[in-house]
Formats: sequence, C-alpha cells, structure tokens
Amino acid sequence: MRKSNLTKISSLLFACVFLVSSCSSDEYKKYANDESKQVASILRQNGCVDCHAENAPTPFYGKFPVIGSVVKADIAEGTHYIDFTSLLHSLDNGLPVSEVDMAKVEYTALSGSMPPLKYYAMPMHWGKTLNSEEKKVLISWAKNVRKAHFASPTVAKEFENEPLQPLPAFLPVDSAKVELGYKLYHDTRLSADNSVSCATCHDLSTGGVDRLQYSKGIGGQFGGVNAPTVYNSALNFAQFWDGRAADLQEQAAGPPLNPLEMGHLSFDDICAMIAEDAEYCAAHALVYPEGLSQSTITEAIAEFEKTLLTPSRFDKYLRGDKTALTAEELEGYQVFKDNKCATCHVGMNIGGQSYEFFGVKQNYFEYRGTGLTDGDNGRFAVTGLESDRHKFKTPTLRNVMITYPYMHDGNISTIEEAVQIMNVYQGGKKIADADVNKIVTFLKTLTGEYKGELLQ
Ligand code: HEC
Ligand code: HEC
Ligand code: HEC
Repeated sequence: MRKSNLTKISSLLFACVFLVSSCSSDEYKKYANDESKQVASILRQNGCVDCHAENAPTPFYGKFPVIGSVVKADIAEGTHYIDFTSLLHSLDNGLPVSEVDMAKVEYTALSGSMPPLKYYAMPMHWGKTLNSEEKKVLISWAKNVRKAHFASPTVAKEFENEPLQPLPAFLPVDSAKVELGYKLYHDTRLSADNSVSCATCHDLSTGGVDRLQYSKGIGGQFGGVNAPTVYNSALNFAQFWDGRAADLQEQAAGPPLNPLEMGHLSFDDICAMIAEDAEYCAAHALVYPEGLSQSTITEAIAEFEKTLLTPSRFDKYLRGDKTALTAEELEGYQVFKDNKCATCHVGMNIGGQSYEFFGVKQNYFEYRGTGLTDGDNGRFAVTGLESDRHKFKTPTLRNVMITYPYMHDGNISTIEEAVQIMNVYQGGKKIADADVNKIVTFLKTLTGEYKGELLQ
C-alpha cells in the first residue's frame, strides 16, 4: 500500500528533510533593492515552486521511489490551483505581473494558508512555511505592485491597497465614433434577417444581458453559453468566457458572422445593407472618410462600449465617501475578502483578469449532473491544452444582482446559490447561510448607474 510505505519512508527521511526544511534560507536578502527578485527567491526557496510550477527542478529526494511519485502528484495537484511559471518569469525579468497572481500570493501571505497544513504536517514534506519576515516581503511587494499598476485613478489614498478598485471616471473615446457605435449596436441590420441587434442579447435596460440561460439568435436558435454583460466589459483583460477575442473590437466581429447569433456571411453583406441608407452613410463618412468596412463598424461599436461604465455606491466608498456604505455592507465586503473571493474577482472590474478552473476544489460538472457540452470546455477551445479545460475568464461581479442567471452555463438562477457554489467549488468549503447573505448584501452595492440612473 502506498500509504504504509509512505509512513515508513517518511520516518526515515524525517531527519534529512527536516534539516533541509528548517534551515530557512535568507537568499532573498541578497536582492535588497529589488522586491520582485526577493519574491522570486522566496517562492523558490520555500518550495512553493516545487508544487506550483510544471517545470520546476525536482528536489533530490524527488528521485526516490515512492517519494518521487508523491512529489509528482504534488506538482500535478499544486499547478491545478495556480501555476507560478509566468509569475516567476515576470519577476525575474522585471515584467508586469498578473493582478490575480499577485492577489493570490498576497492572500496566502496574509492568511498563512500555504503550504497546505496536510503537507507540512507530514514529516516527510518538502514545503516550508513562510516566516514572518518573508510574509512581510510578499505583502509589501503586493502593495507596491498594486499602487504602481492596478490602483484606479479615482481611488482614495487610503484604499489604494484594496484588492477591489473603483472604476475610472471615464475611458478616453472619440465621441463621434461613440455616437455611430451606439446606432450600430442597436441596428438589427447587423443580422442577416433584420431581427437581431447587439442590444437584443445585451439590452442596456436589463443589466446588459438577456436574462436567458442561453441567448436566442436569428431564427430562434440558441447558443451554448450564457451571455455576459457588456457593461464595464472594456475593463476585461480579454473577451468571451474563453478569451478568444483580445479586445472589444475583435469581439464585435464575432456575433454578426456567427450563424447562431446574427448569421451574416460576411461583413461585405452588412456594409451593403448599411450603404443603402443614405443618412447613415453620410454620418459614417464624416467619421470614417475611408468608407464602410468591418474595421470601421467594429471600431465604432467598441468605442461605444467603452462608455458603458457603471459607477456604484461601492465606487463612491472607494473614492473616499465613507458614508456611501452601511456597516452591514462593509461587513459583507470583509466576508467576501475573507473567503478568497477577492483573489479572482479583483481590480476595477471585480473580475475579468484571469482564466480560472471552474470547480478547482470540487467537480462542479458532477454537481450539475448533465452531460458535458462544448461550452464547458472554456479556455481549452482556444489553446487546445488539456490543462485549460474548464477554465473560464472570471466574470465581473459589477451589476451581478441584475445579470442572472449565472455561470457560463446559465444554470444557476439565484445569487445565493451562485455564492455558495463559489464557496464550495472555488473556495473548497460550504459557508453558513448567514455568511452567504452577508456577501449578497455586499454584492448589492455593486449595482451601478448608467447615464445617471440606477440600473435595474
Ligand atoms: C506540497 C505542495 C505545495 C506547496 C509546497 C505549496 N503549495 Fe500552494 N497549493 C497547494 C495545493 C494542494 C493547493 C490547493 C489549496 C488547498 O486545497 O488547500 C494550493 C493552493 C495555492 C494557492 C491558491 C489559493 C488557495 O489558497 O487556494 C496559492 C496562491 C498558493 N498555493 C501559493 C503557495 C505559496 C506562496 C507557497 C509557498 C509558500 C505554496 N503555495 C506552497 C500545494 C502546495
Ligand atoms: C444572439 C445573442 C447575442 C448577440 C446578437 C450578440 N451577443 Fe454578445 N454575447 C452573447 C453571448 C452568448 C456571449 C458569450 C459567448 C462566449 O463567451 O462564447 C457574448 C459575449 C459578448 C461580449 C464579451 C463579454 C465578456 O465579458 O467576455 C461582448 C463585449 C459582447 N458579447 C458584445 C456584443 C456586441 C457588440 C454585439 C453586436 C455586434 C453582440 N454582443 C451580439 C450573445 C449575443
Ligand atoms: C479561483 C477563482 C475564483 C474564486 C476564488 C471565486 N470565484 Fe467566483 N467565479 C470564478 C469563475 C471562473 C466564475 C465563472 C464560472 C463559470 O461560469 O463557469 C465565477 C463566477 C461567479 C459568479 C457568477 C457570475 C456570473 O455573472 O455568472 C458569482 C456570483 C461569483 N463568482 C461570486 C464569487 C464569490 C462570492 C466568491 C467568494 C466566495 C467567488 N466568486 C470566488 C472564479 C472565482
């Protein structure tokens, strides 16, 4: 039995590995003036990379039989949760780091959750606990990275280091293009049978979504994933659940030619339809003298979408108005952070900055109980990498109260269930209903205003 072998070998190796583990390395202190290099050194010297990087060098005892296979299993398990390969590359080379990787490392330093107790409680284990000085370095690094790269231009000084940030006041746009984009967004001629516009599935008066499990395109056809909101989507690091469009302009080229959505065969057809409308053409020619094309249409739509920012009471608070939130709402925010929600749902868009396994701690698809669909593949559809299967772009939680039903499969109809599912499948444990309700109390503060009116 693997288990009993393990017990024997673990006692044998106890002394040797204990020595390796306990002689804490101060290697990071060599990089006194470079916090990034200090962090890289801490992650390497404490065994974090051993479990959390696919191509980490195996430690010497990793070559022993039995122990070796445990090491491999640890790596397979650890990289499932987070892979530090790209973080280390960035740290080593002074490149920008992911806001989510940064928030996750910060969380482990603040909570002392890593390495997992079940590992270092076993005497043979090779991970080390972070000492308090090392934790301080990680926390200070996160603070400085956040301030330099992720703090919102509108944030109050005291909230600069919050994992969630207020919206910018605006994004720079060309207002003539915005006006044209607004018209195109609401124009059913973008669909082959003149029946569907962008607004059909992303109605601005219903949270920027259609509130259907799956969206209905031309001819009453249904797609295979739930429509995310267009509000604040300009702040996502990529578009679509699987990130197959890099930005809004690239995204806007998708639906018109999607046979299930708008069903045109080419943008030439769309241009021809619009060209028949003299008034439209004149307006377009003023903005784009070069004439109608896929790129002018999609650029104008994207420009319009950049204006879809929805500041909420939570933004007011982070911008410095302490009276904007009640004590209960602030408590809800704390419960949200305590349950790791703010490690994936981060930043100005409270999400949209990384791809994450759905069901990282437990199998969501078993819980759902229906067969897997193409839509469940997530990021795998783009990269073809097995390790990307069931990874999805973390959705924004802005306006989440009014963007039901939830998840990429639109399978969850209430916010309470969505929050509990997140706790169980992403966080690893069920929480008390009272805590779910506290989180929901906080989420309600994220419903924002568009053109000065509260969305509903
Ligand atoms: C022996 C393997 C192992 C080592 C060593 C290890 N981890 Fe982990 N790590 C895991 C596992 C397993 C999980 C999944 C969490 C769980 O189920 O408790 C995880 C999860 C994480 C997460 C995701 C957030 C979370 O809490 O779920 C982060 C971030 C993380 N580890 C950082 C670190 C850091 C930093 C170190 C070094 C101090 C480290 N890990 C050392 C195995 C390891
Ligand atoms: C038939 C319904 C339908 C129509 C029409 C439609 N969409 Fe979508 N939209 C969706 C669905 C469903 C998704 C998610 C698809 C996916 O991720 O694979 C989506 C995704 C998006 C996203 C990505 C948001 C995010 O967070 O990733 C944006 C932005 C968007 N649509 C804007 C538009 C624009 C602009 C148009 C018009 C050119 C449009 N949509 C037309 C249903 C529709
Ligand atoms: C490990 C990253 C991660 C953590 C931690 C996490 N989430 Fe999520 N969250 C996601 C991903 C990914 C999705 C999309 C899942 C899907 O649709 O397949 C999601 C979806 C959601 C949704 C549905 C949104 C929508 O529009 O469909 C809600 C609500 C939500 N999360 C709230 C929370 C709360 C509350 C917490 C803390 C208890 C939390 N999340 C923790 C990654 C995470």
